[in-house]
Amino acid sequence: MKFFVDSADVAAIRELNDLGMVDGVTTNPSLILKSGRDIVEVTKEICDMVSGPVSAEVVATEAKAMIAEGLKLAKIAPNIAVKVPLTWDGLSACKALAGEGHRVNVTLCFSAAQAILAAKAGASFISPFIGRIDDNHYDGIELIEDIRIIYDNYDFKTEILAASIRSVNHIIDCARIGADVVTAPPAVIKAMASHVLTDRGLELFLKDWAKTGQKIV
Ligand code: G3P
Repeated sequence: MKFFVDSADVAAIRELNDLGMVDGVTTNPSLILKSGRDIVEVTKEICDMVSGPVSAEVVATEAKAMIAEGLKLAKIAPNIAVKVPLTWDGLSACKALAGEGHRVNVTLCFSAAQAILAAKAGASFISPFIGRIDDNHYDGIELIEDIRIIYDNYDFKTEILAASIRSVNHIIDCARIGADVVTAPPAVIKAMASHVLTDRGLELFLKDWAKTGQKIV
């Protein structure tokens, strides 16, 4: 399973990247806003740091303008994946950009039907938004399961990039189902290391060690 970091915070990405945890990065207009940085500058900095795909999202809503923005974003670095929304125009832009050899991440996917169309349009990645589906009282994980079955039935090469990850359990469920990639905020990735029994066990070991009066170095 590949780990992408869902962030435009360079310091947070670097911390995980230095540990070898980062296979790619996803950004979106809200994350660029949060970073307070210029989209081209911050995306370039991330692309220079991370060798895997870095998704940068278009903001135009018509296919022609999306393609123009996608081509500009793709020039930032060779590892850019152009992110387009799952609209009819977005699918058209996906087809055109993929046809020119660019990686395309089709985002804002909320149904299996949308995921089929993205695969047909040549997307490298489909991004179903698990958390936002759960927020609306549907089952985000069930959508990942459905897309996995459908893509496997027809040997679609589009990678399932589970997005809008809110918890460690989301990541475990995605791994169990066989999502190709999860993109998660840095805090959720770091939370994977925490366990109350690890903390309790460590506390006990340190207490006993102190009683020995020994030192290792
Ligand atoms: O990159 C898009 C996605 O992961 C958004 O997540 O938490 O804003 O629903 P969220």
